[in-house]
This record gives sequence, structure tokens and C-alpha cells, in this order.
Amino acid sequence: MIEFKNKILFVGYGAVAECTLPILFKHITVPAKNVTVMDFEDRSEKLKKWTAKGVRFVRDRVTEENLGKLLAKHVGAGDLLIDLAWNIDACVVLQWCRDNGVRYINTSTELWDPYAVGPNQHPTEKTLYWRHMNLRRMISKWKGKGATAVIEHGANPGLISHFTKQGLIDIGNASLADKKIKGRAAESVAQFIKDRSFNQLAQALGVKVIHCSERDTQITNKPKQVDEFVNTWSIEGFREEGTTTAEMGWGTHEKQLPALAYQHKEGPKNQICVARMGINMWVRSWVPNYSIQGMVVRHGEAFTISDKLTVWDGKKAVYRPTVHYAYCPCDMAIASLNEMRGYNYKLNANQRIMNDEITTGADILGALIMGHGYNSWWVGSDLSIEESRRLVPHQNATTMQVAISVVAASMWMIENPLEGVRVPDDLPHDYILDIAKPYLGKWISTPKDWTPLAERGNAFKGYNKQDLDRKDPWQFKNFLIGEHEA
Ligand SMILES: NC(=O)c1ccc[n+]([C@@H]2O[C@H](COP(=O)([O-])OP(=O)(O)OC[C@H]3O[C@@H](n4cnc5c(N)ncnc54)[C@H](O)[C@@H]3O)[C@@H](O)[C@H]2O)c1
Repeated sequence: MIEFKNKILFVGYGAVAECTLPILFKHITVPAKNVTVMDFEDRSEKLKKWTAKGVRFVRDRVTEENLGKLLAKHVGAGDLLIDLAWNIDACVVLQWCRDNGVRYINTSTELWDPYAVGPNQHPTEKTLYWRHMNLRRMISKWKGKGATAVIEHGANPGLISHFTKQGLIDIGNASLADKKIKGRAAESVAQFIKDRSFNQLAQALGVKVIHCSERDTQITNKPKQVDEFVNTWSIEGFREEGTTTAEMGWGTHEKQLPALAYQHKEGPKNQICVARMGINMWVRSWVPNYSIQGMVVRHGEAFTISDKLTVWDGKKAVYRPTVHYAYCPCDMAIASLNEMRGYNYKLNANQRIMNDEITTGADILGALIMGHGYNSWWVGSDLSIEESRRLVPHQNATTMQVAISVVAASMWMIENPLEGVRVPDDLPHDYILDIAKPYLGKWISTPKDWTPLAERGNAFKGYNKQDLDRKDPWQFKNFLIGEHEA
């Protein structure tokens, strides 16, 4: 437990916030009267247990017009703002928090209206990369660090950066113990582990590709109705990120850009984007213990992990892995997406985030780190619905992984109040994982002899032209599920 005497404001009381509030009180000693929850929907019924203890509920909406005035009513210097709403412009809220000395945390980098830009806008300008560049430009004008703000610290983005670091250490240690790496190379690996020099460690291990690989197996006996979108977390959030450009951290080993790919002209240029919706770009991936097909939905981790793992020689990137999400959501969400495609991507008015009606399943979320001496290594969380409910009644596995991450980062922020704007990769992974692991169900860190070519068959051999690189399994085109998938 750590103590916090100042105020905390939650903006948004949806699926993630509902799971975060009870965990926050388990880890942070703060008077209930110091905690305010704001949502534009009436959440008083859901908050009854907490308002009875002194938590305040305010029904209001943060907008472009009222942001400064509204937030100032509830938080000031030294306080903490936990943003679990959607579409609050990251630049605007970060600037306000800095100007007012308020600590700030969110789980994704958003804009007031992500749909304001039309289809004619260049794909690179629709990207998260673009948003990060705007943030960097803004921050570069600030003098001194200022109040701590941690952006994109949910499960993914968020925990996945810490899983990746732990995975690299585990692969390094196993490679040394199994004598897969010997002599001077072994000495370097041992040193990189000791120094926490993760980019050099990834390079020395030969890591080529990192997937944030997720399979959500939570199911229900209350099936999706026709014209209903069902998911295990924010439906609006999923639609927003899924129906825009796919984005990837682009590895230095890649020989060929995928079709419709665009490169950036400014910044570290560690990412590419593709003029295709993420929900329509599928890749092969693996979670314990089977192969999955996942979607390249854009996420902050593809930017930050590939950025932090780049090895530079002056201005030239000499090493970088390909990094992206490979998301296989719950079966109800897969069916919902398919229906939404038929509706020309118009979101159903009827929406349901599953909780108590889930009968069984788990959220299996981890980093699949590939290209080294073991071929693949998966590190992360296999959290069942039963375990989630044991930890916090009425919560599902997906929101639990996000909630504990928000709490762990908030604790770090309380202990480190003046660190300026940070991404998950900047935080100490062992600090976060020590707090998070008891909430992550089965912790798995395991080698797996898997490549995207391993089980790839061809039902029309001789009659189709599979465009695969058999010599280098780690080329992106070997993962991509395309017209030559047999
Ligand atoms: N990084 C991750 O791993 C991760 C995972 C899940 C969700 N998220 C993000 O977390 C956020 C919350 O997700 P969720 O599943 O709880 O969503 P949700 O839709 O269940 O809840 C969001 C809540 O915020 C409220 N809200 C939205 N905008 C608001 C505003 N401007 N002012 C006041 N209230 C507002 C809504 O009424 C709703 O109750 C989303 O941005 C989502 O993309 C991140």
C-alpha cells in the first residue's frame, strides 16, 4: 500500500474504470472523499457502493470547450487525473495537466474527433505515429520535466512493453544457460541483461519480430443478437482503432513493404502504415498453445517498443524489430465485426460489454518474441474469467489486465511525481510487474519452436503462387494472410 493525500479524478466510468476503482483502493491509501468519478452517463447506480463510502460522482462531459474549467473544479497541483474515457485530445489534456501541475494517466492517445478527417487525408496523417509526433513537438517546447504523465499504460499498450522486456531477459538467460550463445557473444548478452540495455539485447539475441499476440476466449450463453455489437471492452475504442490504418513498427530485416504501405517523412520513421483497416489485415501468430489468426489493429506499443528497441549508428537505424498487434478478439466480437463490415462499418446502436454473462474463457495476452535461437518465445498473462472474478467480482479478464496496469502506473506516478511525459517503456518493468502479476492469472514465459511457415500448407499446390520467403521465415509476408492463403 502507498499513501496519497491529494485528490484523484477518474474521467470515464466504463468497463475499465469500474474494474480499476476497487483495485486502486486495495493498493493506494487515499480518503474516499478525495476521489471523484466523472461520466456523462448516469453511473450513480453502479457507483453506489463507492459513493456510500465517500467517493463523489459527477455527471458531466469533458469537451473541447470546457476542458480547463471543468477539470479545474476537481483537480489541481499535485493531484492525479485518471483518463479512462475516449476521445479526449491527448495534446490538449497533457498541456493542461502540465500547466496546472496535475499528474495524468491514460491508456490510449486520442483526439477530440478521430472521424473529422475525411477519407482523402493521407494515410500517414491518420496514424498514431502522427499523434506521437505532434506530442513530441509540443513537449520539445516545454522547459523542465513537470508533473508526471504516463500515456498509453493499459494492458496493450501498457503491460505489453513490460512483458517484452521481461521476455528479452528470459530469452537471454535461457540462451546463456543452454549455451545457445557462447564466447564473446555470451559475455555481451550477459552485460546487456545487467545494464538493462534492451535494444542491444534484442539485437544480440537476433530478435526479428515481436507480436502483441492476444486471444480472448471468453464466451457466453447469452449470444450476440442480430444487430448487436458484443465485446469484452470498449466497443467505441475498438471501432476507432480498428477501422483506421493498420500500423507496424517496421524491422530493419524486412525486404519488402506490404501492398499499400506508406512511410513517414519525419521523426524516427520506425513505423509504416498501410492504407487498410486494421480489422481487415490478418496475420498468423501464436499463443500458448496454438496458432491463431490475429488482426493488425494499430496500437501504441507498435510505436514505442519498436522505437525503444532501435539501435542507432548516428542517424541510421542499424537494428529494429518489426512490432505489431495480432489480435484475435472474443468470438462474439469476431461475429460483431463481420456484421459491421456488412453495414459498411457503421457501428451498431445496440452494444454490450460482456461481464456477468460470461460462462468460461480467458484473455491470453503476451509478447511473442521471434527470430532468436528458440525461434519463438511467448511471455505474458493467461487470465481466466474465474480468476478475474475471484480478484474483483463482476469483472472480466480483459478489463482486469488493463485495470491493474493503470493502478501500478499510478503508484509509480505517486512515487515519482515530477518525471514529465512518459510512455510505458520508460517505466521500470520489474516495479510494474511486481504489482501486476498477482492479477494476471497464469504467468507464462516459454520457448516455442514456431515460425509462421511451420504449419503452413497449400491446398492448391501447383495451381496458386504462394508468395512466401522460405529462406527467411521472419519476413512480414510470411505472416500475412492474403489471397494466396490456401
Ligand atoms: N491500453 C489498453 O490495453 C486498453 C484496453 C481497453 C480499453 N482501453 C481504452 O480505455 C478507455 C476506456 O475503455 P472502456 O473499455 O472502459 O470503455 P467504455 O466505453 O466502457 O467506457 C468509457 C466511459 O467513458 C465515458 N466517457 C467517454 N468520453 C467521456 C468524456 N469526454 N467525459 C466524460 N465521460 C466520458 C463513457 O460514457 C463511458 O462510460 C478507452 O479509451 C479504450 O480505448 C485501453
